Amino acid sequence: TPQPTREITGHTRVYGILADPIHHVKTPQMLNALMAREGRDGVMVPFQVAPDDLATLVAGLKTMKSLGGFVVTVPHKTAIVDLCDAVSDSARRIGAVNTVRREADGRLIGEMLDGKGFVGGLLAAGIDPKDKSVYLAGAGGAANAIAFAFVEAGISRLTIANRTRAKAEDLAVRLAEAYPKAQVDIGNPDPSGHDIVVNGTSLGLKDGDALPLDTARLSPEQIVAEVIMQPEETALLAAAKAKGCRIHFGKPMLACQLDLMAEFLGMRALPGAGK
Ligand code: ATR
Repeated sequence: TPQPTREITGHTRVYGILADPIHHVKTPQMLNALMAREGRDGVMVPFQVAPDDLATLVAGLKTMKSLGGFVVTVPHKTAIVDLCDAVSDSARRIGAVNTVRREADGRLIGEMLDGKGFVGGLLAAGIDPKDKSVYLAGAGGAANAIAFAFVEAGISRLTIANRTRAKAEDLAVRLAEAYPKAQVDIGNPDPSGHDIVVNGTSLGLKDGDALPLDTARLSPEQIVAEVIMQPEETALLAAAKAKGCRIHFGKPMLACQLDLMAEFLGMRALPGAGK
């Protein structure tokens, strides 16, 4: 959907999104619309960059005084960490950054909002994970961010189950280093005994994918949440629904994450600004 053209002037703050490939990204439309709604003089544009050129581009962006920051996505989320001047503690432990703010002095501050967006999407749906037990399938990029966000949201216990057990163990170790009091276990495909069951794997993206966990073990008091946005109703969610579980789609994560990005990048109306 084309948006009303806004005038770009010498005052306009520039934001980028770093990706490769980049044609599929929707973040610019969303955040440009948000800035327009907020009355902010800013614009987000695609910065397609190959992995080998990332460091060169970022070194240049540090010098760009009109830059407000940038969003980072596949395949750069890991490599960007060491190119930032500072990153949040959880982003460093997760090993990935998806949003970078440029300070007036040129310092690049990195944050990881994937997991916070996921938990925020649950909260927006009225599901508060605080004091709940969580079963998480997966230990890849998405699952790492989600695991940290759940622990930060005050869950009572986390069970991580991943095909490659060593990755689940590594994640559990990093969680324990950050949050020594957190209750974290390594699990198997059986999600029973947990309040919230989350698919954090990429299983379900493609037709014919195996289920990420044993759905026969689900029971109606459990909430089953999905990280996958497309298709909206994955085979996991269909099976969970059939079992009588409350289901939570992957989509709400996106809206919440855009909100968090806008906040972090200073795209919101300034406090006290007239409307
Ligand atoms: P993302 O950024 O989407 O999280 P990722 O970091 O590649 O992508 O992680 C993919 C996750 O899906 C991992 O947990 C992966 O399990 P492994 O760590 O064992 O690779 C999981 N996954 C992908 N394909 C899978 C499959 N066929 N069976 C089981 N798990 C799978």
